Amino acid sequence: MKTSFLFSATASILALCSTGSMYGQPSGQEEAGYTPTRENMESREQFRDDRLGIFIHWGVYSMLATGEWTMTTRNIDYREYAKLAGGFYPAGFNAEEWVSAIKASGAGYICFTTRHHDGFSMFDSAVTSYDIMDASPFRRDIVAELAEECHRQGIDIHFYYSLIDWGREDAPRGRTGLGTGRPEDTVDKDAYFEFMKAQLTELLTGYGPVRAIWFDGHWDQDRNPDFDWRYDELYSLVHSLQPACLVGNNHHLNPFPGEDIQIFERDLPGENSAGLSGQDVSLDLPLETCQTMNGMWGYKITDQDYKSVRTLIRYLAGAAGRDANLLLNIGPQPDGRIPDQALDRMAGIGEWLSRYGHTIYGTRGGEMTPRDWGVMTRKGNVRYVHIMNLKDNTLFVPLDSGKVIKAVCLNDGTEPGFLQDNDGVLLKLGRIPTETDMIIELTLEEKQKGGVS
Ligand code: GLC
Repeated sequence: MKTSFLFSATASILALCSTGSMYGQPSGQEEAGYTPTRENMESREQFRDDRLGIFIHWGVYSMLATGEWTMTTRNIDYREYAKLAGGFYPAGFNAEEWVSAIKASGAGYICFTTRHHDGFSMFDSAVTSYDIMDASPFRRDIVAELAEECHRQGIDIHFYYSLIDWGREDAPRGRTGLGTGRPEDTVDKDAYFEFMKAQLTELLTGYGPVRAIWFDGHWDQDRNPDFDWRYDELYSLVHSLQPACLVGNNHHLNPFPGEDIQIFERDLPGENSAGLSGQDVSLDLPLETCQTMNGMWGYKITDQDYKSVRTLIRYLAGAAGRDANLLLNIGPQPDGRIPDQALDRMAGIGEWLSRYGHTIYGTRGGEMTPRDWGVMTRKGNVRYVHIMNLKDNTLFVPLDSGKVIKAVCLNDGTEPGFLQDNDGVLLKLGRIPTETDMIIELTLEEKQKGGVS
């Protein structure tokens, strides 16, 4: 590491920070009484409207091809692990191809791992030499190329940023990364937080508008309940550099002050099959759940067990019906190319969204709680009933928000018969649904402004 440079660059950024001139407001305790700005509230709504994002886990760990946790699960010495960077030359990386394929999936944003738990920075960072410019022969700022291409193609960029680091000597030790051979007496929490703040400053000042910072790793200290993650400092730094930037944290707990979205991992909000989602579902923050396309986040050469397009579409509709976004992960190969299986799934989802996207994008969920048979989304005076698992040709849908004046099956254009009473509407589908998602569009009578409905 370029230690002296590290400290001088950090120091100058912090000097600017303490004058408040760079950030517009001093960082500090104000996140406890955090009031989001108007731009932030608008950004939350745009985020909600997108409904689908693509998560990208890519780093030097991709070369080991066993996922992103290999450094700690195999207890690899941090000095040996760092040598991976010297062989990282992803000749097939092409931001234009990535963003085009992701846009074609119908996603509205990309969340990219700028620095994962192994500590390698995929961007040009002045506060470490363990980054793509100094430690790898590739010497291309991957984050810059990706962010520029996202801005050019009109898709939002979010940055994943790990709070933990298995390779830095100064990083606080939690319950992971303990076998990577670091000396025990080098922990320097203050220096580590200054490093993170300097990197977040780089990410939020050098790459144009960033719609979200996606923190991860909080759970590493779950055996040290008194550990202070200094979120007041980190979150207020993000908001002061880019007020519209949404703060999310994959801590698996109820939202903390200063957070703008609530994140779930590997489960739809309200479900907990993976054991990571015991938290309450926020009633006011936008929701997002992240899910793998196969079984792993980072590239895993032996995992060809990709979920089908049908399964993924149902997951997306299930998320929308719970008023949540789906952040669907892909793990690019060591050569920088997206695996064919992932390209195939993205194309399939995109094809479906090109027909039915209006029942997902810009909708809100939550009017009817999820059912075994499916979910409902809504937009204005229209309700979209997504039927994904039904063994009958008739379906009762609870609904008390207005009188249905028309029902159309969007898959085949037919108009199913219906009977409505105060409890809901009985749909006479005429057949047992077999499609991935049979969507019945219900149009409700427009309510008179100021009148009684
Ligand atoms: C977990 C994993 C991490 C992954 C993240 C994505 O926190 O530790 O590797 O990046 O989930 O949701």
